[in-house]
Amino acid sequence: MNTFSHQDLPQASTTVLFAKDVNKIVYDVDGELTILQNVNLSIQSGQTVALVGASGSGKSTLLALLAGLDSASSGEIRLFNQPLSGMDENARAKLRRNRVGFVFQTFQLLPHLSALENVALPLEIGGASNNAQVREKATFMLERVGLGKRLTHTPRTLSGGEQQRVALARAFVTQPQLVFADEPTGSLDAATGARIMDLMFSLNQEQQATLILVTHDSHLAAKCSRRFHTEAGHVIEVQD
Ligand SMILES: Nc1ncnc2c1ncn2[C@@H]1O[C@H](COP(=O)(O)OP(=O)(O)O)[C@@H](O)[C@H]1O
Ligand SMILES: [Mg+2]
Repeated sequence: MNTFSHQDLPQASTTVLFAKDVNKIVYDVDGELTILQNVNLSIQSGQTVALVGASGSGKSTLLALLAGLDSASSGEIRLFNQPLSGMDENARAKLRRNRVGFVFQTFQLLPHLSALENVALPLEIGGASNNAQVREKATFMLERVGLGKRLTHTPRTLSGGEQQRVALARAFVTQPQLVFADEPTGSLDAATGARIMDLMFSLNQEQQATLILVTHDSHLAAKCSRRFHTEAGHVIEVQD
C-alpha cells in the first residue's frame, strides 16, 4: 500500500520564501558585525536553489533566518506567506511542522535513537498518533534510501554516508514542501557525497519539494534551477 499522497502539494508558482531588505547584525566583544546586508529574494514552489559562497560569507546564517530558526535584525521574511517577525519560537516551529525538512553537514541524528526512531520523530512531533502508520512510513522511507536492513541501528553503528541517508529519510518523511540542506556532503568523501546528492535530488523530484541547498560544489549548483552567491553578507542571484 502506498501511504503517500501528493494531493496536498502546493500549486505551481506559489511563493514559498520571501525576503525583503533583510539584515543580520550581531554584537560581540569587538563591537558590531554585519553578517547579512540588504538581502532580497523570492523563491517559488518547486524551485531548486543553490546558495554558494566562501566559508564565512553568511550562507548558514541566511538559511537559519529563512527557516525561522534565527531572527533577522531588520527587514521582512515570509515563510509560506507568513511573516516570521511577529512569531515566537513556538509559532515558527508550528509553521515548519510537517512542511519543512532539514539536512545538515553533520547529520544531527539523535544518538540514542535507532534509524527508525530518528525518521519517525518528525511524524510524531507533527502530531501523528497512529504508531503502526508512523512505523510504516518511516520504514518505507528508510527502504527508499537503501537502509531497509538498518532499521534498528543507532547512528554510531552506521557509516557517515548511511547516517546522511537516515537524515534524508527524516527530512523527506513528512513530504515537506520545503527542504533546507546545509552542505549535506561536507563531511563525506567525494563518491559517497555524489551518491547522497543523487538521492537527495531524486527524493526532491519525487515529492516536488522546494530545495534550498548550500554547497561549494559548482556541479551541484549547476543542477539547481537557481543560483545565489553570498559574499561578505551580500546575496546576489547568478544569472547564467
Ligand atoms: N552568532 C554569531 N555571533 C558572531 N558572529 C557570527 C555569529 N553567527 C555567525 N557569525 C559570523 O558570521 C559570518 C557568517 O557565518 P556563516 O553564516 O556561518 O557563514 P557560512 O555558512 O557561509 O560559512 C562568519 O564570519 C561567522 O563567524
Ligand atoms: Mg555554513
